[in-house]
Amino acid sequence: MGKNILVLEGSPRMDGNSDMLAEAFAEGAGGQGHEVSIIKVSCYRVNGCFACSMCWNMGKPCVQSDDMEKIYPEIEQADAVVWVSPLYFFTWSTQLKAVIDRLYPYYLDRSPVKLKGKESALILAAATDQMAELKGIQETYRIMTEYMGWKNRGEMYACDVWEKGEVRHMDYLERARSLGASF
Ligand SMILES: Cc1cc2nc3c(=O)[nH]c(=O)nc-3n(C[C@H](O)[C@H](O)[C@H](O)COP(=O)(O)O)c2cc1C
Repeated sequence: MGKNILVLEGSPRMDGNSDMLAEAFAEGAGGQGHEVSIIKVSCYRVNGCFACSMCWNMGKPCVQSDDMEKIYPEIEQADAVVWVSPLYFFTWSTQLKAVIDRLYPYYLDRSPVKLKGKESALILAAATDQMAELKGIQETYRIMTEYMGWKNRGEMYACDVWEKGEVRHMDYLERARSLGASF
């Protein structure tokens, strides 16, 4: 049976490299009969965590009323979550980091809803061609995935892409499609 795959695309740039990688991944996964939805996180208004410790107090994960209310059910229902980010100062874009921090409620002992058991993948677009500069996000992704109890299904790094559309110049879109097809 097809999986429900949620792609969280974190670039604020429209029609950029991350958008194209997310689309290619979705094509590959869709071709296997999976249900894929892409959320362009920058089109949503998502605050950071306020550390107010009010998680679940109002019968919902977070007391804040912002667009995370739309993203929470998508994450809860997903069998797999795919993070697609541009590299910003050696880590995620701020937009994706905000979504990640807002998953805090689910990792409290008292959480009535658990997110464990999902699959995940990371797709990254970066201007650098130095793998050493990807270490921060790579390690963060791996530690976070383990902490969340998710199974890492793959990581794909599209390096040396700066301008919009530069992912086309190498085999990156093909690789993103293959990663999608491998789910
Ligand atoms: C605020 C900002 C910070 C960036 N920081 C890095 C960085 O640390 N390392 C890097 O290789 N590229 C960096 N870049 C370049 C982007 O990662 C690169 O252009 C990427 O292809 C953008 O993907 P997009 O087209 O999906 O927005 C940065 C770009 C911006 C706007």
